[in-house]
Amino acid sequence: MVNQKTLLDLAKKHGTPLFVVDHDELRRNYATFKKHFPRVQAYYAVKVNSDPAIVETFYKLGGSFDVASMQEFHTVYQFIKKLSAKARQDFIWDKIIYANPIKPIETLHELDRYRPLVTYDNVEEVKKIAKHAPHAGLCLRLQVPNTGSMVELSSKFGSPPGEAVDLIQAAHDHGLVVEGVSFHVGSQCTNPENYVQALHLSANIFNEAKLRGFTLKLLDIGGGFPAAYDASVPKFASLAKKINHEIDRLFPADIEILAEPGRFLVASAGTSVCKIIGKAVRNGKLGYYVDDGVYHTYSGVIFDHCTYHLQSFKRGAKQLCAVFGPTCDALDTISLAEHLPDLDIGDYLFSENIGAYSAASSTHFNGFPPAKVVHVNR
Ligand SMILES: Cc1ncc(COP(=O)(O)O)c(C=O)c1O
Repeated sequence: MVNQKTLLDLAKKHGTPLFVVDHDELRRNYATFKKHFPRVQAYYAVKVNSDPAIVETFYKLGGSFDVASMQEFHTVYQFIKKLSAKARQDFIWDKIIYANPIKPIETLHELDRYRPLVTYDNVEEVKKIAKHAPHAGLCLRLQVPNTGSMVELSSKFGSPPGEAVDLIQAAHDHGLVVEGVSFHVGSQCTNPENYVQALHLSANIFNEAKLRGFTLKLLDIGGGFPAAYDASVPKFASLAKKINHEIDRLFPADIEILAEPGRFLVASAGTSVCKIIGKAVRNGKLGYYVDDGVYHTYSGVIFDHCTYHLQSFKRGAKQLCAVFGPTCDALDTISLAEHLPDLDIGDYLFSENIGAYSAASSTHFNGFPPAKVVHVNR
């Protein structure tokens, strides 16, 4: 992580709000993932932070990519467009998954020429894909338990396990090929049982599909790998050990295993720096007003159900205070319970572990643009 002196120097040089991305940390996280999941091909979930510089770093490491839209597809495509047509097509097939189960018809039209792997989870999508992207390969997204995960996804996506093989059959009947099964246990999943249950459900579907004449080749275990936001988060090594044990027990070595890690790869690589622009006592509590907020880098407070702590560069006796963003909306409250010293207007605050789902969902609300992004150790 970037040290405090560097952060302060960068804030003084570039102004605030500032979003600092440490590429050494991206590389460390990727290496940690690969070390603990040697059998798994890691597809970086671009939605978590689609900054091309971040995509480039994972590209240079040999990473693969999970994209959710045509825009994200093109962000990755920029790095492969100079390859030969064959190498480019191999890259798309081997290293990109379009993992949004619901795709607009226009997107399918555009995707078809690239012949990518795409996910689906319902029969209407099968009909759409058969008509508009018949050259795509399919991966069936399964509904799995998301119990205790910070961000729940299973209420919106995934075929109920009982309907899965019928959906494989439906794809086949429409002339499509289902390559495998995917799931997502929910983001920031601190409950390893979600993975264990999802792997069991998937193995049952592999077996049932085989009985019905369909041989599945790949399993995509999705994202959910937790960032170490605090000491309560299970150790990555022990989570990986448990998952690997189940994978090896349930899936023969010739089954390809994919994952779509996002948060785990980028959360700790992002640090934000903001400046105190106002100070007032509200409801008996000191409130600091800063130049970044929940419509900007701290958007994860709303969309990601995440809390971020603000830290001061200055020392001193701490007191309970609130920290508000710069817009005219009271929702723009970063925290009602931070412990900070007595600070002045113009002083800086920073938050660590804010790389995931933060800058990605920043807006221009109230005319305030997103934080400036600075890349270090690129
Ligand atoms: C399909 C899909 N894959 C991967 C991810 C990334 O998940 P995470 O950041 O929890 O690793 C998401 C997040 O929403 C997702 O929807």
